[in-house]
Amino acid sequence: MKIESKTVHGGDRRKLTGDFVPVTTPIYTAASYAYDSMEQLDRVFGLEEKGPSYGRYDNPTRSALESLVQDLESGAGAIACASGMIAIHTAMLAALMDRPKRVLAANMMYGATTSMLMNIFGPMGVETDQIDACDLAAFEAALAETKPGAVILETIANPLLRVAALDHIGQACKRAHVPLIVDNTFATPLLVRPLELGANIVCHSATKYLAGHGDVLGGVIIADAEHFDTIRTLSRTLGPVMGPFESYLTMRGIKTLALRVERQCANACKVATWLAAHPRVERTFFPGDPKHPDAANIARLFPPNRFGGLVSFELKGANRAEIFRFMEKLQMVVRATSLGDVHSMTLYPAMASHRDLSPKHRERLGIRDNLVRLSIGIEAHEDIVADLEQALSA
Ligand SMILES: Cc1ncc(COP(=O)(O)O)c(C=O)c1O
Repeated sequence: MKIESKTVHGGDRRKLTGDFVPVTTPIYTAASYAYDSMEQLDRVFGLEEKGPSYGRYDNPTRSALESLVQDLESGAGAIACASGMIAIHTAMLAALMDRPKRVLAANMMYGATTSMLMNIFGPMGVETDQIDACDLAAFEAALAETKPGAVILETIANPLLRVAALDHIGQACKRAHVPLIVDNTFATPLLVRPLELGANIVCHSATKYLAGHGDVLGGVIIADAEHFDTIRTLSRTLGPVMGPFESYLTMRGIKTLALRVERQCANACKVATWLAAHPRVERTFFPGDPKHPDAANIARLFPPNRFGGLVSFELKGANRAEIFRFMEKLQMVVRATSLGDVHSMTLYPAMASHRDLSPKHRERLGIRDNLVRLSIGIEAHEDIVADLEQALSA
């Protein structure tokens, strides 16, 4: 070969012979894959033989992550995506593909999910009915009345941390033959596995607990056998997929997911109890509160003494400026728009996660302007409490 050809071909495509196996999955950055024979490539393209052929279809690093999350969520297949939102979008497209273009959605969800339904699916002719998913009778009545093509809700709803009767809704959707999509980002498969309760498709923002270190934007879709083929076909055509670096980081993050979630849950219980007794705090919202409006669902669906790592609270009589001042006084707890990381974080829903909703819409949902959301990290709980205390006193 001439030098120009050598620069292109040297070092690559060497068969890794020998008896060694990398103990962790390497980052495969190749966009496409070469095979010995065209017959074999034909079989791989036709899904008759497993193997990567082109990055939009398949990637060994991504496949390893997909196989991991599929197993964690008890699914038949998984696709790792570039963001949580494109995971939810792809799941919704798949569910509605050959069904009535109507969605029954929980009224309390991540703001961008609501805006996706209203501002993207709406103009394309998909009607959305939003109902309080924690009012089981009303939700079941809406399911019977509206005959939707898909149902969507969050296991722990953002930001007031309500918990619907996912098991009963799962069964109702099964009886009605309507696919149920569940955003399990806040709960993680350590707390709840929706596919085991009757859901058909689970989505995550992997940006949050799964990756867990604030260095990945990603999402995953995990589906039952009935829906996975459609999701894979959509994914192969549209390419919403996660890149190999992010797949590697997410997989690396998941290795400590159980440890992190255990610590975050324990810390959240301590912080929520402390906040509930603080004179500057009007109300706390925490699934571990025995007086939580959905305590019966929580007791049935969650493992003992684990209620997630999120705590929301209202600062007594505070306006927007005072909330800002409180948040600016925090020294360790990070002011940032995310959750589920190793570090504790605080977010102002009216300005961030639910900014896209009108003030009237937020008010209807009970999201007041003095509401703050905390995502509890793995630090020493004494330091989290001390930081909140000094910021509240200031
Ligand atoms: C519950 C929930 N679902 C989905 C998303 C969207 O995820 P991403 O930002 O990774 O697109 C978020 C983001 O905050 C979220 O909180």
